Order: sequence, then structure tokens, then C-alpha cells
Amino acid sequence: MKRWTVWLTLALCVLAVLTLAGCGGNDKKVSGKPPRAVSVLFAESSESWRRNGLALRDTLEKDGFVVDLEFSRTADKQAEALLSAVKKKPITIIVGAVDSYALKDALAEAAKHEISVIAYDRLIMNSPHVSYYVGFDAKEIGRTQARAIERALHLKNAFGSDNIEIFAGDPKDRNAVLFYEGAMEILKPYMENGRIVVPSGETSFDRTATADWSVQNAKQRADRLLQNVYADGRPLSAVLSPNDTLAGAVRESLDASYSGPWPFITGLDADPEGVRAVAADRQGMTIDKPPSLPAQECLRLVRDIAARQAAAAKVKEYNGAVEVPAFYCRPIVIQKDNLESVHWTQP
Ligand code: BGC
Repeated sequence: MKRWTVWLTLALCVLAVLTLAGCGGNDKKVSGKPPRAVSVLFAESSESWRRNGLALRDTLEKDGFVVDLEFSRTADKQAEALLSAVKKKPITIIVGAVDSYALKDALAEAAKHEISVIAYDRLIMNSPHVSYYVGFDAKEIGRTQARAIERALHLKNAFGSDNIEIFAGDPKDRNAVLFYEGAMEILKPYMENGRIVVPSGETSFDRTATADWSVQNAKQRADRLLQNVYADGRPLSAVLSPNDTLAGAVRESLDASYSGPWPFITGLDADPEGVRAVAADRQGMTIDKPPSLPAQECLRLVRDIAARQAAAAKVKEYNGAVEVPAFYCRPIVIQKDNLESVHWTQP
């Protein structure tokens, strides 16, 4: 044999051995089985959904799953995306619902094809076909935001009365209601005994809600409140905001039309801008829901689903149709005094 044919033969052998051993990192983990498809369909109502989607996709892909990730702005678009995902026959569909109440029919279609559905961060309501919920305890998040106001304004032990204003999220998002209810559990007694006052008089969920979690809607409402109620120099001590994007809208409005002492503003998501505002004393707190935590929970469930095993949950959440096995992750409260020490997971 000529020397070049010897080299060629050797090279081909090495290639064959590598191929048989399945050297592509991902293939190795599914031990030669064909990759399994997972659809991830998320809302796009804040920056945090994008971070969560990418983290979830990376986590699943590192384990050998093939992920189709899609973001939708409207409930109709998401229902359409869900129906086309069903046609691709993934082993599971993970949904961060645009509208917690609008996916009943699409989920029935998934169930017909025996595709399980995991509700991510927002529970999907009124459908018997939600296999699991993975996320955070939204009511407790609302309580945590209100407790931060309680501490900042010394509501428990100082006399006098403080003015606060309340912002809530999108009524289509079940979390928005839970954030509001949790916060009200803490704030309502102070509203009743006069320790806090809401000068706008807008306290119900309906009056304080922000359709579509839209920054523009929140800014318009904040502008209106500041012009109508605070133009005479009345001080505003705190603003209950359910997340960082709405807190940003409130800050913008305050910058433009308020000159009193800066209020304590709550937030959620540890968006880079929210964390910068906490560092600069322009936002009182935020709450980090590290995307890696629900991503790991989902991975565990997706592995079980792939192995056709059911996962047992200690907690269940009733969605109006069934008790959904729920897996809660633990959020991290971020304030200026622990900003340096918390394990902050985002860039
Ligand atoms: C999520 C929040 C998010 C909000 C707006 C909620 O359902 O829990 O983290 O800020 O939606 O997108």
C-alpha cells in the first residue's frame, strides 16, 4: 500500500470510530436515541420572558432535547403557535401564557395527541389539560413587595399617614391578580386604619390594572395621577408596582412631573434597569426569579415525561378545572443593602 492510502485508511477508521461513539456532546446524553422535541411558547410582555425562554432552551438543549422556542405578543398568535406546535408532535409543550384564560381549546387539541403541557410561571386556567405548573408563588411575591413598603415606611410603628399609589398588572395574567391580592393582604389593614392613604382613590384591581403589562399604559396612568392628585406638592411615599417594567414607567413619569421626596417603588424580575435603579436609590427593591431555577425544574419534568413517568408534587394549584401539580422555585429579594451580597444571576 502506498503511504497516502495508509493515511487515508487510518483517517477513515478514526472517523468511523468517532461517529459510532456518538461524539457530538448532545447525542451522547440521549444515548443514541433520536433527539426529542420540546416546544416552548412564551409571552413577550417583558424583557424577563426573553431571558427565561433562552435559559430554558439552553438547559433543555444541553441535555439533548431539541427545542422550538417561540414568543407571542397576543393570545390569538399564541393559540395559533400552540396548534402548529401540536402538529410537530413534541413530547411536551411548555407555555408561558399571554392570556391565562384563553388556551382551553388549544390545550384540548394537545391532549388529543397525548402531548403534555407544562404551564411556566403563569398558570393556565380552566383547562383540565395542564399537566404541571412550574414557577413561583405569585401571591407570596405580592406580599413580599407590600412588606418591603411596610418596612420602608415603618408602617408598624410610626404614627401619621403616608400617601401611596397602587399599580397592578395585566388582568389576562393570573399572576397579576395574585400579586395584587398578596400585596393587599398586607396593605389593606393600614388603608383601613388610615396609616396609609391612596389619594387617587384608585385601589381596586380593575382601577389599578395595566392592560397588556404595557409600559405606555402605566406611564399614562402615572402621568394622570401625578397631574390630578400631586400637582399641589402633596408628597408620595410609596408606589406598589408589580414588576420592574412598570416601575420604570412610574419613575419616568415622576421625573417629568413630580418634585417631592422620591417614593419607595417596588419591582420584580431583577431586570438590569431595575437593579441599576435599586443601586441608584430610585427603586426601593426588586425580586429576582432566577431563570435557571424553573429551567432546572422543567428539565426534570421533561426527562420524566420522556421516560413516561409521572412526577409527584407536594403542592397543587387549582386552575378552575383540575388540581395541577405545582413546583415552586424560591425568588431572591434585592434591596440596596444586599445588592452586593446576593447571588445576582443576570448580566
Ligand atoms: C411574570 C412577571 C413579569 C410579568 C410581565 C408575570 O406573569 O410573573 O415576572 O414581569 O408577567 O411580563
